[in-house]
Amino acid sequence: MNTFAFPRSLTTPCLVVDLSRLEANIARMTSALGGRGVGLRPHAKTHKSVRIAAMQVEAGADGITVATLDEAEVFAAAGISDIFIAYTVWPSGDKARRMRRLAERVRLRVGTDSVHAIEQIAATLGDSVEVSIEINSGAGRCGVHPSGVAPIVTAALEHGVRLVGVFTHGGHAYYGADAVVPAAEDERRTLHEAAEVMRDAGIEPLVISAGSTPTALHSSRPPVNEERPGGYVFGDLDAVVHGACEVDDLAAVVVSTVVSVAAKAGQFVIDCGSKAIGKEEATLPFSGFGTIAEFPRSVLVKLSEEHGIVTAGTGPMPQVGDVVTVVPNHSCPVLAAMSEMVVVKDGDVVDTWPVDARHRHQNPPLLSRQ
Ligand SMILES: Cc1ncc(COP(=O)(O)O)c(C=O)c1O
Repeated sequence: MNTFAFPRSLTTPCLVVDLSRLEANIARMTSALGGRGVGLRPHAKTHKSVRIAAMQVEAGADGITVATLDEAEVFAAAGISDIFIAYTVWPSGDKARRMRRLAERVRLRVGTDSVHAIEQIAATLGDSVEVSIEINSGAGRCGVHPSGVAPIVTAALEHGVRLVGVFTHGGHAYYGADAVVPAAEDERRTLHEAAEVMRDAGIEPLVISAGSTPTALHSSRPPVNEERPGGYVFGDLDAVVHGACEVDDLAAVVVSTVVSVAAKAGQFVIDCGSKAIGKEEATLPFSGFGTIAEFPRSVLVKLSEEHGIVTAGTGPMPQVGDVVTVVPNHSCPVLAAMSEMVVVKDGDVVDTWPVDARHRHQNPPLLSRQ
């Protein structure tokens, strides 16, 4: 498998991002959705980088999506002024205080899927935030069926909560290449039904938001007027399998060193364990925890925290000290693991960017909450 060029002298394991491919991926999604008159609000949990978020907004994104309040705070501090926490929030205590403060600085939208949470939002945030109702379009994680929208709208009207629309995440697109188009249609259809119910219940749905990397270009048709793909910036093997990009578009890899060939014949070990690449297994036709570009017949069969155990199969064996390129199955866990990314262009290192919102899916240190 061919990837992009980078200096073989990098300290490993490290996350390497190809700037030209990153820029091309951002431009492609922005212009595809722009051409359909559909807004782009990319999910920034994939890259967790204020530099990349700024590139996305500069290219034409309306704002960003995040998964947590902590991520929202990082991007707001870096100047992103329009943020959707696409999560069914429960604002209470310190979290409610922080959300109110954030809403003073940025345009803030949050998700909900219950009357109970609408009452909580009314009590703790009032009308300081915009609220979108999450719809379950088939992934079965969160979200109401369209028929469950009316009581939430009624509660919002009663309590003065600013409902602005509906959203869904067609995560069931990841069940295989054949699942993508039906999942995108599920997104569009359920959002359409939910929007009608919302309108009939008394609030005009202004933002009808779908989103995943595989479905973005399939569900971006009326009434959907916003898409929230995240993984498209880098691509990964999952995106290749699900038709969202080509291998030549992949913009992020983990560069690693062969550290042992001693324990078993036909086995080599690389310094890329679960703490570098996450633990997500491949979708067919790929296998293992990532693909090693230089040894395509090998399989990364097992991970411990700092070791990746690879069987060479019928292919050649590397030597200790060889540098290899691990292409991730899913890029999000890599970014969650790494503290910085080495940025290359035409094979040379041009910059190093911090993964600014790394670990901001957890509790931030007390001091940063002040
Ligand atoms: C609510 C929500 N929106 C958008 C996305 C982005 O989807 P993808 O990771 O396929 O780009 C996700 C990803 O998990 C999500 O949970």
